[in-house]
Amino acid sequence: MQIKSLSLHNFRNYQSATLSLNEGLNIFVGNNAQGKTNLLEAIYVLSLSKSYRTSREMELIRHGFETAIIRAQVVKMAAMDLTVQVSRSEKKRLLVNQKSTTANSFVGRLNTVLFIPDSLQMVKGSPGDRRRFLDVQICQIDPVYRGNLLKYQRVVRQRNSLLKRAWDSRSLLAQLPAWDKQLVDLGTQIILRRQAVVEALQHYSRDAHEKISDEREELNLIYQPCFESEASVAAGKQYTISQVEEALKMQLKQLRTEEVRRGYTLIGPQRDDLVFRIDDQDLKKYGSQGQQRTAVLAYILAELELMYGETGEYPVVLLDDVMSELDRTRQMLLLSILNEKAQTIVTTTDLDSFTPETKKRASVFLIEQGRISE
Ligand SMILES: Nc1ncnc2c1ncn2[C@@H]1O[C@H](COP(=O)(O)OP(=O)(O)OP(=O)(O)O)[C@@H](O)[C@H]1O
Ligand SMILES: [Mg+2]
Repeated sequence: MQIKSLSLHNFRNYQSATLSLNEGLNIFVGNNAQGKTNLLEAIYVLSLSKSYRTSREMELIRHGFETAIIRAQVVKMAAMDLTVQVSRSEKKRLLVNQKSTTANSFVGRLNTVLFIPDSLQMVKGSPGDRRRFLDVQICQIDPVYRGNLLKYQRVVRQRNSLLKRAWDSRSLLAQLPAWDKQLVDLGTQIILRRQAVVEALQHYSRDAHEKISDEREELNLIYQPCFESEASVAAGKQYTISQVEEALKMQLKQLRTEEVRRGYTLIGPQRDDLVFRIDDQDLKKYGSQGQQRTAVLAYILAELELMYGETGEYPVVLLDDVMSELDRTRQMLLLSILNEKAQTIVTTTDLDSFTPETKKRASVFLIEQGRISE
């Protein structure tokens, strides 16, 4: 998959910018606060229909202007034209070949994998960080999952509101079973899909990890569903649909009083986690910085393979300022692995951090105050 050309109009600090991208490596160089991250954000918005940096979409519109437009020509099997239009006074519009469409049909047209300094939170951060990374990936390859996830989140919100009000008026608890049923049905589908994806990622990330780690360590990526304790999770353990349903129902029973007392939902996939282990040690607790970085890198490469496996094409890789996070050997390795596979868009403040050979095969762009030149 490849982005042929991109144009931005009143998006963040860009007034108007149009550029053609190289099918391989593209390096965007610029000082701080010139618009490098803004550019990657724009591509991400075309991919996921929303930003990873903010949920307030007005921020995407250039100060003092009315409408931001991001548009790209993308080639994936066939060519297509993708546009996102964010306006101060109108609803956001998503267009495929100039025709308005729903977010569920828009997401997944342009597949991306994003790697930013913050991605290290994949190992170090909270379970919520890890679920987000996972969901962003699955939503791109599976619109049914995306639909279920949105429905599920609504169910949890409404169930929470019911639990909160039930403290004062117990009669409301009669409505709970209807919500419980939806929680179990949708929750089970989400858990099973996540389980399958993590299983695939585990396989791919183990291979990638072998390539990029100097030591002969084995990376294990393990899915920990909400009803399983960290101590009892093990690689390769697979739950069937009825096991998941039973586990959720059982927890609902056990935690009912506690849920009413606390006033919110205590079970379900919004409490899942992922465990990274190296030679059976938890990487989050015991891993060195270097080991954690290598694991995240392996995870990113695994995402690439997962997408290839699911869609038949490699996603576009977005790397924001991460070269500084990686030592020279890992940089070279990453870029050479990507070179054989995916269109890659890298930002940097320091062009000298790339080797002459890398620069030679790349298109290099300069970003200055929201203007891009080659
Ligand atoms: N809605 C907006 N309208 C106008 N300018 C904006 C808007 N949103 C952000 N900016 C400006 O964009 C600039 C930041 O751009 P960006 O985050 O892309 O920088 P960067 O090149 O990635 O810098 P760094 O190297 O520090 O990461 C800031 O100067 C900010 O004021
Ligand atoms: Mg930046």
